[in-house]
Amino acid sequence: MLSKENYFNKILQGDCIEVMKELPDKSVDLIFADPPYNLQLSHELYRPNQTKVEGVFDEWDKFESMQSYDNFTQAWLKECRRVLKDDGTIWVIGSYHNIFRVGAIIQNLDFWLLNDVIWVKSNPMPNFKGTRFNNAHETLIWASKNKGANYTFHYKALKVFNDDLQMRSDWYIPICSGEERIKVNGQKAHSTQKPAELLYRVILSSSNPNDIILDPFNGSGTTAAVAKRLGRNYIGIERESFYIEVTEERLKKIKPLEKNLLEHPIEKPQIKVPFGNLIEKGMIKVGELLYAANGKANAQVLADASIVWNEQVGSIHKISASILNKPNNNGWKFWYVERENKKILIDDLRQSYIDVFIGKLPDNEIKIPKNKVKSKSKANTRQEVEAMLREAVEEAQKETLITQTI
Ligand SMILES: C[S@@+](CC[C@H](N)C(=O)[O-])C[C@H]1O[C@@H](n2cnc3c(N)ncnc32)[C@H](O)[C@@H]1O
Repeated sequence: MLSKENYFNKILQGDCIEVMKELPDKSVDLIFADPPYNLQLSHELYRPNQTKVEGVFDEWDKFESMQSYDNFTQAWLKECRRVLKDDGTIWVIGSYHNIFRVGAIIQNLDFWLLNDVIWVKSNPMPNFKGTRFNNAHETLIWASKNKGANYTFHYKALKVFNDDLQMRSDWYIPICSGEERIKVNGQKAHSTQKPAELLYRVILSSSNPNDIILDPFNGSGTTAAVAKRLGRNYIGIERESFYIEVTEERLKKIKPLEKNLLEHPIEKPQIKVPFGNLIEKGMIKVGELLYAANGKANAQVLADASIVWNEQVGSIHKISASILNKPNNNGWKFWYVERENKKILIDDLRQSYIDVFIGKLPDNEIKIPKNKVKSKSKANTRQEVEAMLREAVEEAQKETLITQTI
């Protein structure tokens, strides 16, 4: 078995089935696999102007029969399943030549299909012979290890990415060309280099910074390159030493983005604080008045956290909606309380509640008394540190309550 320093952020040479056997069980968070498609192209292709089409005629794409392709697919997917963590997911890309066989095998191995994503090529290669439809897409299968697995999916981040519209399963991305296409001595370094945008979307949506991403068919290293850029760790496996050299050169030029640019704050669940919590904590007093922004309406707070206005009783939301003549309204953004002759939005009080009581208190506001901290040689136990932090938080809470003059 390989030790972590021998596979972590490395491109390993060899047959992926054999190399994966050297990786520990449940050691990777995400797999992206772009296996041979078994295109079965038997003769060279020419454009109408007699120039040769650079298709995929590589030896690595050739299999004796469909059965041998299936056996190979089953073997590498089985190893993928073993090395994938229980909450990890796998992406496999393919074309009509192979994707249906791959899909059946994935299901037979008990993976749970989450989506098939269609990569629509906005600039596909034409069908030169004019004998079929222009083949303008490839398919990605996305699957979790088991049904009901707690896998990573940055739904909200992808929605923002897509101008606040749910990200759909059809992705319009151009094929890899121009500057992006790696060339060696004027020739394409790899016949099937995938566009980085495709991997960007895959990695961003289904992994977290510092995760380990495995690509068993590394090729020119698109997965490793995007993983590195996005602050993830990679493991690439590739048989051909030439492609490994190409990848190493490519990786040298990649600078990871800074950590603070990679977080997904938008994914953090909104903390729910009911209005009653502020009353329980004395941040809003029973009997005090809540004011509308224009000062025209005011309502009185009752002990059960309902408010009364114009003989109507209801929640902060219901009463504000009634005043505005709307079916519903967010009362947190409507009502103000008076503190030291100033009007304060109750939503700001709610934020103070979250900061103080739900644990967003910045470290620099937690002051642990110096006399309680032991010297380095006689360090505090974990329990002591936790007790000190609890005490310090309680002190800070008292102070906040006092400064809020409640
Ligand atoms: C479709 S390409 C991957 C291209 C890659 N996604 C990229 O963007 O460059 C498949 C790659 O897998 C490699 N390969 C094929 N069979 C393999 C095997 N059994 N083990 C490891 N690598 C293999 C091939 O040499 C080829 O580079």
